Amino acid sequence: GGAEPQFTKWAWLNGRLVPAARAAVPVFDRGLLFGDGIYETVRTYGGKVFRARSHLARLAASAARIELRLPYPPRALEAVMARVVAANRLSDARVRLVVTRGVGASPDLGAIARTRPTVLVYATPYAGPAEADRLNGVRAILARTARNHRRALDPAIKSLNLLNSFLAKREAARAGARDAVLLNPDGFVAEGTASNVFFVRRGTLCTPALEAGILEGITRGIVLDLARRLGFRVREGLFRPAALLAAEEAFLTASTIELLPLAALGARRYPASRPVTRVLQSAYRVTVLDELGSRSRA
Ligand code: PDD
Repeated sequence: GGAEPQFTKWAWLNGRLVPAARAAVPVFDRGLLFGDGIYETVRTYGGKVFRARSHLARLAASAARIELRLPYPPRALEAVMARVVAANRLSDARVRLVVTRGVGASPDLGAIARTRPTVLVYATPYAGPAEADRLNGVRAILARTARNHRRALDPAIKSLNLLNSFLAKREAARAGARDAVLLNPDGFVAEGTASNVFFVRRGTLCTPALEAGILEGITRGIVLDLARRLGFRVREGLFRPAALLAAEEAFLTASTIELLPLAALGARRYPASRPVTRVLQSAYRVTVLDELGSRSRA
């Protein structure tokens, strides 16, 4: 809701809890100068982080891909996220863990000797999309902006530079839509601006394969697991936008939004009954409850 504060009181910066409003990073930080860094966003339910280990493993993979050495082991970062949630007395929240390469010996792109990464963790109250949106879906568009080529800044790296997604998000806003689905440079469906995309076609649950050039979403992995266990036909592949437009159901996935149905994609309106999406939405909730024993609104 709109009454929630935008920023919470306590953040964690380079080893300690600090008042978030006064926390500061040097102007020569490479995150600011070059977008040189990575991040993760996790959800908490009833104060507990969901799938912290998976997110920290992905953070480590992103770090390795950009030759950045994480200054803290995953276990320490897991404790930090819990600490920030507790310090701010949050129940259902979104926690963001940001790592930049820090300050170089000189403000030059190649000057990475003796850098010490900047690590920031902050949290915001968040209980997911509005109930009406979970139920009825949101409108999205197919963006003209393409997802980065895998041989450019590979979308598998959860890079701090979100401008590609930002441009697609602005296209969506101009079209009066909530979000955008991006195609890869070869014209195959890739992912949302901050989510993966799924659709149901002739009863088969489809999602772009990793080869499409996407982030390997934690939620995507859970949904694929659940779908297979529930006996749905599942297909990861390369799909043209026509397949997505012809689908019976479509939804986005991310840790923040869980499974969010698409009511429309551009001019295409999807049917209001979403049997597969609904089953998977419930199964996801059950998974969260089983793991965290949450008493949140879930
Ligand atoms: N974004 N694809 C992109 C480009 C994303 O940014 C995200 C997550 C996902 C879904 O990943 P996961 O299921 O692991 O959350 C896919 C987070 C929520 C963010 O940017 O804050």
